[in-house]
Amino acid sequence: RGKRAFIAGIADDNGYGWAIAKSLAAAGAEILVGTWVPALNIFESSLRRGKFDESRVLPDGSMMEISKVYPLDAVYDSPEDVPEDVKTNKRYAGSSNWTVKEAAECVKQDFGTIDILVHSLANGPEVSKPLLETSRYGYLAAVSASSYSFVSLLKHFIPIMNPGGATISLTYIASERIIPGYGGGMSSAKAALESDTKVLAFEAGRKHKVRVNTISAGPLGSRAAKAIGFIDMMINYSLENAPLQKDLTAEEVGNAAAFLASPLASAVTGQVLYVDNGLNAMGVGV
Ligand code: NAI
Repeated sequence: RGKRAFIAGIADDNGYGWAIAKSLAAAGAEILVGTWVPALNIFESSLRRGKFDESRVLPDGSMMEISKVYPLDAVYDSPEDVPEDVKTNKRYAGSSNWTVKEAAECVKQDFGTIDILVHSLANGPEVSKPLLETSRYGYLAAVSASSYSFVSLLKHFIPIMNPGGATISLTYIASERIIPGYGGGMSSAKAALESDTKVLAFEAGRKHKVRVNTISAGPLGSRAAKAIGFIDMMINYSLENAPLQKDLTAEEVGNAAAFLASPLASAVTGQVLYVDNGLNAMGVGV
């Protein structure tokens, strides 16, 4: 039987989530997607209208099929957590079962089990503010959407993950080195995500034989990255200073994720894998 993957955090064909889905599909996995509720309508209608058809083409010429798109807001664990104003917001009221717990229940009903869980989402409402100017609300919101969201996804999906399964999240080097401009507590959120990768690797490994790794990716001009405002500068910095002076494609990150999710990485867990043209290894820019 082929493997089944649930990828949380795809809302267009530009980000890392989409590229990971493609690499997993190319390796024979069945693809399920979790899409942020406010972005769901436009993503689904674009899919239906064929807007992504060109970027759905896999190396063998076939098209990536998405078996099902689930609405998801990874900031809420179960219906009791959803505040009234969100419940009645018209972007949310049109969908149902989009808390993490409900999404996992729906996947279980529809497909039974999964083998691969990918977390490719982040959000920090104050990302453009320096940490010193970040509010408590902004900081906690960044950690909630970008770090606890992974803990919650793993907690709710692990009961339906087959032993030998793998989970992957996406992190950024701002967790451990100073990257001015990556603010709002997002650097803190990535540090939490990386530390949790170790603790969760232990817990999920012992209890369920599931592996937990994270990819520290180099800069990509995704929708989320453009919102931060300094992505072109980071891409240029990498081109000038990284050991490999070439563009970093989302596909390269997708391929590393496919490796981590595969039996080729069966002894790899609790790791941060840098997929950044080697930039992390530099001590000075030259
Ligand atoms: P993206 O915009 O393609 O992906 C972010 C996704 O998160 C979007 O689809 C958005 O709808 C979703 N999202 C936001 N809040 C959510 C919530 N509460 N519940 C469910 N979904 C939610 O952008 P990108 O850059 O591909 O981001 C994917 C991951 O890669 C993120 O964790 C990001 O921090 C990480 N990353 C990105 C880098 C870059 O330069 N683009 C560099 C290193 C890591």
